[in-house]
Amino acid sequence: MPRLFEPLPLGPLTLRNRIVVAPMCQYMSRDGEAGDWHAVHWGTLALSGAGLVIVEATAVSPQGRISWADLGLWDERTQAAIAHALAVARRHADVPFGIQLAHAGRKGACRQPWDAGGAPLPAEDARAWPVVSASALPYAEGHPLPQALDEAGIARVVADFAAAARRAVALGFDLIELHMAHGYLLHQFLSPLSNQRTDAWGGPLEHRLRLPLAVFEAVRAAIPAQVALGVRISASDWVEGGWDLAQSAVLARALDDRGCDYLHVSGGGLDPRQRIPLGPGYQVPFAAALRREVAMPVVAVGLITEPVQAETIVSSGQADAVALARGLLWNPRWPWHAAAALGAQADCPPSYLRAAPHAPGVLRPPPAADAATPA
Ligand SMILES: Cc1cc2nc3c(=O)[nH]c(=O)nc-3n(C[C@H](O)[C@H](O)[C@H](O)COP(=O)(O)O)c2cc1C
Repeated sequence: MPRLFEPLPLGPLTLRNRIVVAPMCQYMSRDGEAGDWHAVHWGTLALSGAGLVIVEATAVSPQGRISWADLGLWDERTQAAIAHALAVARRHADVPFGIQLAHAGRKGACRQPWDAGGAPLPAEDARAWPVVSASALPYAEGHPLPQALDEAGIARVVADFAAAARRAVALGFDLIELHMAHGYLLHQFLSPLSNQRTDAWGGPLEHRLRLPLAVFEAVRAAIPAQVALGVRISASDWVEGGWDLAQSAVLARALDDRGCDYLHVSGGGLDPRQRIPLGPGYQVPFAAALRREVAMPVVAVGLITEPVQAETIVSSGQADAVALARGLLWNPRWPWHAAAALGAQADCPPSYLRAAPHAPGVLRPPPAADAATPA
């Protein structure tokens, strides 16, 4: 049995295999609401054969969105919209679903990526909003000047994450991932490049960790033990003098001590000066290094595209699981193909069982009987 297709315990959850659908923003929401697109998209990913689907960065408040069309989970209305799409998506697939909770901070108030490259909305655009951050430092030229959060604003952010987490539990998500990566608000507090505060929330590393850890603790306290809680980080800003692997190790150990169920290791996104040595599995060495620091499972991500590459990452102990984003958009049946290439079995809806005439036995029916119920 290839390691990639062995079960993986993630805190209270056990994944059927070690392939994770990485969170991917769709920029397809109106006023934060999930719609038919999400039902179709999540349903496709749910049928992929992956061991876990993590729903896109979901804003914990309207000000926490990246673009005006981002998904949100901040009130009854946005919760009900997700409930509907999720019910459709899960109807015929028995796969654990997670949701990534996020606040964009100074990277908010933007267009969709296919509209002018996702540039910030002009302040006078009715869809824009004032953005906040650790310090009054814009992400880049042409981006809005954020307001540095005051004590009340910081308390609000913690409360918003906890409230969204409670809503996620009510929606039946099996897992919550806190977005501390890619230059969004919690990463803005972690990095010395974006956090130049002189109070208890900035300066030395211990202070810069405070808000992300406060959010983690508030969410952990807000959700039951049966729901897994993990964190996605950027292991490096890829900028001299920025957040780096050594600081990530301190954060990772602090999360481990607080009962974090897994660490999802990504990189970059904080500063446009970043220089990323892109290549196959370019972030895997970060995952491997951090895995040596913690007891919790570690998920690697970033240009993992080939079944043998994925199998090597998990069987050599560089990571416990792999996450794919673009690879699964390009080929939503990637786990089936990986199973065929590695001599394993992938879950498949009964109606699709005849899809693999040249690979008999690769596809197997789902374990839950109701996934095969006509509807
Ligand atoms: C369309 C798209 C949307 C994304 N949205 C998110 C997101 O919501 N949250 C997040 O942490 N990363 C997001 N990412 C980054 C991916 O999760 C992943 O880390 C990155 O694409 C590298 O993995 P890959 O080489 O398998 O695509 C997104 C990537 C893509 C392509």
